[in-house]
Amino acid sequence: MRIAITVVAVLVAFMFVSDAVAADNKYVGTKTCAMCHKAKDKGEAFTIWQKSAHAGAYKTLASEQSAKIAKEKGLTKPASESPECLKCHVTGGGVATNVDKTFDMKEGVTCEACHGAASGFKTTHAKKENKAKAVEAGLITGDAAKKTCETCHNKQSPTFKGFKYDEYWAKIAHMLPKK
Ligand code: HEC
Ligand code: HEC
Ligand code: HEC
Ligand code: HEC
Repeated sequence: MRIAITVVAVLVAFMFVSDAVAADNKYVGTKTCAMCHKAKDKGEAFTIWQKSAHAGAYKTLASEQSAKIAKEKGLTKPASESPECLKCHVTGGGVATNVDKTFDMKEGVTCEACHGAASGFKTTHAKKENKAKAVEAGLITGDAAKKTCETCHNKQSPTFKGFKYDEYWAKIAHMLPKK
């Protein structure tokens, strides 16, 4: 019994610690990622992102279609200023208070929307042997990154047409080249 309580206490403490670490992180913006993730032989993640719908997600809120949706919903502000829309159309959901000078929500749905706010891991994660440390510092990758999609691709989206991971991932796939 006592062992069980100790185990639970340690687990709970650990959860709080890892949450606290990630919560302290600041968004740094895509320019920081581009430095190392743009070259063709490095997987081109930045170029692929830049051409994707995610990079235009904030701009979409200024479209006529968005104005129409906002009106139908009875929103009192334009879509591009409404929390109801920013929630999914920008990194940090329009409420990121811990933003770095280099972060601009107008970049839309960026790397950090799926990989986590990066101030705590942007340098360390570049070395393979640091992976565990980087994940502890807030890097979201692999299966954990796949799970982020449906936090936005769901029925709360006014234009939701369904979501199939494999089909959608194929449009934005950006793996590192195999060595
Ligand atoms: C200083 C260069 C550098 C910067 C800046 C950088 N990265 Fe990386 N990143 C790397 C390298 C090198 C790797 C490959 C590490 C390895 O071999 O495991 C990597 C790997 C990754 C991975 C894969 C991790 C894994 O093992 O699954 C992700 C995700 C990632 N970076 C995201 C980002 C994001 C997001 C940013 C911007 C906030 C960023 N990186 C900025 C160099 C960098
Ligand atoms: C922070 C919210 C958010 C997350 C997380 C997110 N998306 Fe998106 N995604 C959007 C928004 C918003 C759009 C619409 C952008 C636009 O058209 O302006 C979109 C559009 C797309 C599109 C383009 C769809 C089309 O019809 O061409 C693809 C593909 C896509 N997302 C794939 C993914 C995948 C795969 C994941 C998870 C790995 C993911 N998204 C995670 C918000 C998100
Ligand atoms: C729960 C997350 C979420 C919310 C909230 C949300 N969106 Fe979106 N939005 C998305 C996703 C994801 C897509 C990509 C569409 C798809 O492939 O299903 C999208 C796409 C769009 C598109 C492009 C549709 C198309 O067919 O090209 C418009 C316009 C849009 N959203 C406007 C808005 C407006 C205006 C609001 C606020 C009233 C809003 N969205 C709120 C997630 C969201
Ligand atoms: C919409 C969500 C989303 C966005 C935006 C996004 N990524 Fe990813 N990324 C993922 C997912 C999911 C994976 C892992 C897929 C897998 O493991 O099958 C991944 C994989 C990676 C990998 C490769 C890991 C490996 O093992 O090869 C790197 C590097 C990376 N991302 C960097 C970036 C950078 C840099 C940006 C921005 C320029 C970015 N990503 C934008 C979701 C995203």
